[in-house]
Amino acid sequence: MHKIFSAFWLTISISAFAQETTTPKIHGADVYGAKPNRPFLYKIPATGAKPVEYTVLGLPQGLTVDKNTGVISGVTPAKNNYTTRLIAKNNFGADTLTFDIKVGDEISLTPAMGWNSWNVFGLRVTDKDIRNAADVMVSTGLIDHGWGYINIDDGWESEERKPDGEIATNSKFPDLTALSDYIHSKGLKFGIYSSPGSRTCGGFLGSLNHEEQDIKTYEKWGVDYLKYDLCSYTVRTFLVKKNLQKPYIFMNQFIQNSNRDIVYSLCQYGLGKVWKWGKAVGGNSWRTTGDIVDTWASVNRLLNKQKRLSTFASPGHWNDPDMLVLGIVGWNNDSRKCRLTEAEQQLHFGMWSMLASPLLLGCDLTKIDSFTMSLITNDDIIALNQDRLGKQAAFIYEKDGIQVWSKPLSDGTTAIAIINLSAKEKTTTVKLDKISSGTFTTSKNLWSKQIAYLKDNSITATIPTHGILQFKLAK
Ligand code: GLA
Repeated sequence: MHKIFSAFWLTISISAFAQETTTPKIHGADVYGAKPNRPFLYKIPATGAKPVEYTVLGLPQGLTVDKNTGVISGVTPAKNNYTTRLIAKNNFGADTLTFDIKVGDEISLTPAMGWNSWNVFGLRVTDKDIRNAADVMVSTGLIDHGWGYINIDDGWESEERKPDGEIATNSKFPDLTALSDYIHSKGLKFGIYSSPGSRTCGGFLGSLNHEEQDIKTYEKWGVDYLKYDLCSYTVRTFLVKKNLQKPYIFMNQFIQNSNRDIVYSLCQYGLGKVWKWGKAVGGNSWRTTGDIVDTWASVNRLLNKQKRLSTFASPGHWNDPDMLVLGIVGWNNDSRKCRLTEAEQQLHFGMWSMLASPLLLGCDLTKIDSFTMSLITNDDIIALNQDRLGKQAAFIYEKDGIQVWSKPLSDGTTAIAIINLSAKEKTTTVKLDKISSGTFTTSKNLWSKQIAYLKDNSITATIPTHGILQFKLAK
């Protein structure tokens, strides 16, 4: 797609693509965090011609793997680090991965990956939309690349609680237990949305004064993820730091004491420099910006707000520059194709992966097109996001509309992204001593898959307007 421009590059094309699509390949992180004595669910993401048969060596007592689906389930054992070996096998071959199950106090050791209803269905969302998303996550094979959460955003709640104070659903969601069971039966996880205020942003019931009761209800429903959106809480309080933390600290105690691993996603648009205290209040992630929309101005603005935030991310605690706006989006209006160019969509996905952001697709999965699929099944890019070191890409420099970001990876290599924010195609040379000391000798282009030997510790590349190039560099 992009031209690599350097007389010094010796390129070796990868011809193994056909083979990759048939022999099994295990994707996703090689580490997973869970708390003891709680329901455990992890789908081994693996591509390859079906049927694929799954085995796990060294699985601790209490957990079993379904050999046909690759879903590991059961009750999480006692605190320990369990090193297992995942095996995926089919008629063409096998792949294995050393996989650590870290049972302790931390979950979400790599950013959550999944889907959320908001950017496409807004408040129109229905039970059927959620089931469709779950179906398509499996039928398209997205689940085999690590996409796992199915999250309902605002629009599931009623406007009044039941007489005993329990939160009620509106008529679009007749039975959340049944919906959750449906999602879990597919090896996927189930997320929900609420507000610490009395009302959500959409005007439905929030959790104010019912926080503990709501977490109990979520336990009953089998919830795995809570997006907790400030909304009407700000109306009751003034925007002082103490008050901003208060509702999140308050809800956290019930989440921590619940009998499920619930990913706690703080949504308050970056107020009070949340990245400085999001981890301390129990957040697994925190929104660092206002809402994203599907324009270049929005993606560019949100991205540039992440420049100085890299030190605040760590395994289990992520900056969240909001969900992805790829494919068919729509919010409260009719669904339509996203307004970003293909280069902009690639940059959006590539950079959100570099930023170790939660990756939540916000599109109509039932209408997903081949270009969007090609982006979100690029396992090399996903691997940057899911790397166990958990470093967020650092901003290195900007010159003439070109930005360079770099992300150290757990295998000792470094990922870099070179992006072009200007309105015309640009050729640039990046001197890699700006990234780290020592000399880089090889690179892999994570989009074209070309491997190159580097000379002079530099990369020269041509990047389309609003486009991205990403490389994995080795010394
Ligand atoms: C806020 C959030 C969005 C979405 C809506 C729902 O705007 O930032 O992501 O959850 O509320 O009403």
